[in-house]
Amino acid sequence: MSRQTIVAANWKMNGNSDLVTEILSGLNEQRFSDNHQVVICPPAPYLAAVQSAITNSKIATGAQNINENEKGAYTGEISALMLKDLQVQYAILGHSERRAMFHDSSELVAEKVAYALASGLKPILCIGETEEEREAGETESRLTSQLAPVIAKVGIEKFKDVVVAYEPVWAIGTGKTASAEIAQQTHEFIRGYLASFDADVAQTVPLLYGGSVNAKNCEELFAQADIDGGLIGGASLKIEEFKKICQAV
Ligand code: PGA
Repeated sequence: MSRQTIVAANWKMNGNSDLVTEILSGLNEQRFSDNHQVVICPPAPYLAAVQSAITNSKIATGAQNINENEKGAYTGEISALMLKDLQVQYAILGHSERRAMFHDSSELVAEKVAYALASGLKPILCIGETEEEREAGETESRLTSQLAPVIAKVGIEKFKDVVVAYEPVWAIGTGKTASAEIAQQTHEFIRGYLASFDADVAQTVPLLYGGSVNAKNCEELFAQADIDGGLIGGASLKIEEFKKICQAV
């Protein structure tokens, strides 16, 4: 079956108004195939500007995080309902930088995924192992320990509206990409794990690869059977490179 393909740009804490103009004017003119979605996830202050610069129906916006509560006394936090109000469609949740630096445990990530879904946002749920975990043969147990609390919290049927991004921590921002073979093996494992709960749902979930994806390595990665696109950090800030990645899926 043909799953939706997605290329999502994670700007992290980078960019400014000029970058919004440069990236969107470059992307709006592109043609993407029917089942393809491009998602731009700028820092929150630029979400509205990106949203209003979009003229191409294949481009959507996403947040980089949400709070797990609807509203209230949570200074500095962002509610999923506010994002919906801005017509934002996606939210990156559980990115390894948030897990490592901002105490986003797998249980908290599960709450955020639940709240995003309840608010009508599609979560881009990030999972991935560290270099030490891979070397110790703990990749699979790490990935299931990140997925299981989310499945327990929202139920596998809800994964019809979830995108999973596999991002090995050792490949993020390091220039070290997982080989296409390792990435495919790991994606196959993730899909198999989801299928152990519901085989039909597992077939529909877009699985994105992330970690030092660039214009040179994207084609081989995206050609793999279980890789349905990418979550792109550094290379999403350069319009010519990002256009190539978007067209490679
Ligand atoms: P990178 O980041 O492409 O710069 O490695 C990917 C990510 O962290 O989502």
